[in-house]
Amino acid sequence: QYPTNVTIIEVGPRDGLQNESQFVPTETKITFIQKLWGAGVKEMEVTSFVSPKWVPQMMDAKEIMNEVRGTPGTIALTPNKKGIDEALQAGAEAVAIFIGVSSTFNEKNINRKTEEAMEVLVPLIADLKEQGIFVRACISTAFHCPYEGKIDPQDTLALCKQFVEAGVNELSVADTIGKATPRESFDLFTLLKEHVPNVLLTAHFHDTRKMALANIYAALLAGVDRFDSSTGGLGGCPFAPGASGNVATEDVVYMLHEMGVETGIDLDELVEAINIVKPYVSRAFTSGYYMNKSLS
Ligand code: HMG
Ligand code: MG
Repeated sequence: QYPTNVTIIEVGPRDGLQNESQFVPTETKITFIQKLWGAGVKEMEVTSFVSPKWVPQMMDAKEIMNEVRGTPGTIALTPNKKGIDEALQAGAEAVAIFIGVSSTFNEKNINRKTEEAMEVLVPLIADLKEQGIFVRACISTAFHCPYEGKIDPQDTLALCKQFVEAGVNELSVADTIGKATPRESFDLFTLLKEHVPNVLLTAHFHDTRKMALANIYAALLAGVDRFDSSTGGLGGCPFAPGASGNVATEDVVYMLHEMGVETGIDLDELVEAINIVKPYVSRAFTSGYYMNKSLS
């Protein structure tokens, strides 16, 4: 038994593009985002307010946000107070904060240990909630870490509980380096459904080892009905070696529709969205749906 409606949170303009070394023109990013809304996407990470020294591709966050603000479901990723303040100034109504279960990963990604980062984030969440801002917490290295190896599910659960107690609306639980298997996906999401029930629960899979669709199916069986994915299968965290692309939105949508699960997203329009960014990215587009789109 699995859900009959699923929400896709499109992360292509953020996770998808952040790992591309060549700068994608701001205008192209905006056209890409608008095409994705047109395809029926209802929630989207449109950019991230991070240090341009760390992730130069996201240096146009303000311009992007100013251009696309106002559409319900628009999310800006932010690591700290400076990023949150800038996102709100630019009109964000939903922010995604991010932290890994692994402290070593956090030192590489945000230059802070887990505890240090949480001390700052927890009061910021309270401020955001007071202002009526939707808060999504992205939990990296929830299964495996490129530096610390296998993560204990109890450690992931403990961090998720801290965020729920702090008042977040959503947890997006990530297999950052695409190493988890369906067994791990089913077990972790079953655990989270049981112990942190009062929050939106989303699964975020990278497809390094081609496990992502199987992991999504396993998460569906555990009752998860929200999935992050990236149109074209681009993506990856620059500070997590092995974090190749996110699972491709078109493959997830194809699989779900053929299973009778609704997403509200149009596959032809996703293909058009890929064609907008294709000339600007170095990576090949290897999703099963895109490569075989001419077959009936
Ligand atoms: P830091 O160097 O420790 O920062 O970096 P700091 O607070 O000491 O400030 C140093 C400088 O950065 C200052 O500028 C600040 O103003 C500036 P300077 O005085 O040197 O000119 N600064 C900022 N500038 C713009 N926006 C900001 C900001 N904050 C400080 N928000 C920091 C700490 C967190 C800033 C840095 O490490 C960083 O930007 N990290 C981002 C890394 C990142 O974007 N990773 C990818 C996203 S996470 C991900 O992909 C995983 C996910 O998909 C889930 C999964 O798959 O696991 C979500
Ligand atoms: Mg990611």
